[in-house]
Amino acid sequence: MERANLDWANLGFGLVPTDFNVRYTWKDGVWSSPEVTRSTDLVIPMAATALHYGQALFEGMKALETVDGRVVVFRPTENGTRMARGARKLLMEPPPLELFVEGVTEAVRLNRRYVPPCESGAVLYIRPLLIGTGPRVGVGPADEYTFLVFVTPVGPYFTRGMRPIRVWLEEDVDRAAPNGVGDVKAAGNYAAGMRATAHAHEQGFDVVLHTDPRENKYIDECSAAIFFGIQSTGPDVKYITPQSTSILASVTNDSIMTVARDLGLTVEHRPVEITELATFQEAGCCGTATIVTPIGMVQWRERAFTFHEQGKVAGPWCRKLYDELVGIQTARIPDRHGWLHEVPR
Ligand code: PLP
Ligand code: COI
Repeated sequence: MERANLDWANLGFGLVPTDFNVRYTWKDGVWSSPEVTRSTDLVIPMAATALHYGQALFEGMKALETVDGRVVVFRPTENGTRMARGARKLLMEPPPLELFVEGVTEAVRLNRRYVPPCESGAVLYIRPLLIGTGPRVGVGPADEYTFLVFVTPVGPYFTRGMRPIRVWLEEDVDRAAPNGVGDVKAAGNYAAGMRATAHAHEQGFDVVLHTDPRENKYIDECSAAIFFGIQSTGPDVKYITPQSTSILASVTNDSIMTVARDLGLTVEHRPVEITELATFQEAGCCGTATIVTPIGMVQWRERAFTFHEQGKVAGPWCRKLYDELVGIQTARIPDRHGWLHEVPR
């Protein structure tokens, strides 16, 4: 199949039309067979629970071309497991893991011509979505669900690349509650955080870093990525990343904790106090879209914490973690943890 004619090296993080999407519906207790369609529209009842009561969950994943020309999806079973966990929290019907992986694999296979060339640095972003499509006016779960997967080729989430970003520490707006649904990819979490991000952008910051919603004492996560700090005191280097009930269980962070251990770093996954920012030589955020992005500074009230030699260039550990993760994803480095799921032709 000939590759689509796109300017791969200059793609942004946006929606580029592709050929097909894959859909399943759950009705009368069973999931349908996959429906492959070119239509990008959905016809659903105006009283669908997704629209009124937020029964909506999504995933963010990626497919890449490896250096040896294969197309792989990164750790799809982790995202499928997270979506099922989210579905159970929101009283939605979880797509079985095999169905989730099938839908993702098919969506990539059918749109293979949109998988960017390996050397471009772009990827095929995969967006699985689960919504309550059954109508209901009283508050309660739907009796019908739609699970669909679409894909779009994307370039970097932050146009600054490996140049460190500027971060606003947000204490006033919470994206999630301590015992809420911040740990899963509920659509409403993103609506809740939008005004904080808009405010940060107005002030000249790239991204928001939320504090914990219970005490405003600990670091939670960014609007669409996980925070980490690097503490190097002598030979002992630590990768420190927050643990909290209100932050997303990130597949990328789990992968980076693993490669950090492989590289000999000590990993601390625990509550991280705001004041600990002063003890990090490097800081960054990570996620499917953001990969590993260095943070140059964090503004907390009147106080600015800076990292990476005054925030101008990425420090060595951010680079190493980036290279290791992307190296495994593109098969430049052996897939020693079995993270790559190959998409058949
Ligand atoms: N936190 C939030 C709020 C996100 O939206 C994302 C992106 O998916 C992440 C963290 C990173 O998670 P993952 O590594 O699973 O993509
Ligand atoms: C991801 O990294 O997959 C995300 O979900 C970020 C995003 C909401 C665009």
